[in-house]
Amino acid sequence: MIKAEGLTKHYGPLTAVDQISFKVEPGEVLGFLGPNGAGKTTTMRMFAGFVPPTAGSAEICGHSIISDALAAKAKLGYLPEGAPSYGEMRPREFLDFVAAIRGYHGDELRTRVGEAVERLNLGTVLNQPIETLSKGFKRRVGLAQAILHDPPVLILDEPTDGLDPNQKHEVRQLIADMSANKIIVISTHILEEVDAVCNRAIIIAHGRILADETPENLIHRSRYHNAVTLRLSRDGDLDAVAADIRAVAGVDHVETRSDARSLTAFPDGDAMILPSIGDLAGEKSWPLEQLQLESGRLDEVFRTITAPDSAAEAA
Ligand SMILES: Nc1ncnc2c1ncn2[C@@H]1O[C@H](COP(=O)(O)OP(=O)(O)O)[C@@H](O)[C@H]1O
Ligand SMILES: [Mg+2]
Repeated sequence: MIKAEGLTKHYGPLTAVDQISFKVEPGEVLGFLGPNGAGKTTTMRMFAGFVPPTAGSAEICGHSIISDALAAKAKLGYLPEGAPSYGEMRPREFLDFVAAIRGYHGDELRTRVGEAVERLNLGTVLNQPIETLSKGFKRRVGLAQAILHDPPVLILDEPTDGLDPNQKHEVRQLIADMSANKIIVISTHILEEVDAVCNRAIIIAHGRILADETPENLIHRSRYHNAVTLRLSRDGDLDAVAADIRAVAGVDHVETRSDARSLTAFPDGDAMILPSIGDLAGEKSWPLEQLQLESGRLDEVFRTITAPDSAAEAA
């Protein structure tokens, strides 16, 4: 288990992390979600022992990051934000070096490095200076370094940031493959990532935890949850359709889109309005091009939670 209690970091007058508390158990993939400057990296750096907390405490598998830092670090694999340092080193040298620091030597060192190289598909770039590698390969070198000692806890800071869609998919797959018996914490400002790889999300802004839920529950907070969106063909009369829908039981209100062909009907509370709207569409023979039930929109939930004022403006 990992645990933070009242974890706090001040940089001069700035409170980057403000009394954060949470626990994570094996099997959990926790997404640390927040806008830039929220305090994600600072929190992770405190766990990794790179930044001393101003106040509060944290533990990794029972070891305090302050009073038992070496034992805590032995249980942790950490991917820093951005690219690995040591750009002039080659991946083979770099991984050998990290493995030696982790206390491996001889055959065991070679086996550990070999396994990490294979898992991250680094075979073709082992002797090319890290600074000359593509972003995707740099990230993989960083991940290889993090998993080298098969730690029970992985803390990955923006593991897919700046990668192309295929590379993102690969990294997410890797996380999923490792998640069964590990604790994995990833930070991200990408909402779809939380939905794709995490089974728990902590939303953080201005150094504070604002939500701690499953992605599914977060999405249920969206005003779009169970809303119905439809689009008419060009000859459809959107105003007439909107008027019909407003009269359907359980519909709270209707918002029409500026394309003059689409609208979204919002339910009153938990009402399920799709069946009635579908029936009405048949009865009245609306020229429908599309009719869909909305599961909810994470980006809107995220904005509502992290910047309530701007979300209200955008709505
Ligand atoms: N070494 C530092 N010195 C001063 N301020 C810092 C330092 N590191 C981060 N900060 C500030 O702390 C806040 C949180 O930053 P960070 O943890 O990097 O956020 P995130 O990773 O969520 O984008 C930001 O306002 C950032 O400018
Ligand atoms: Mg960051």
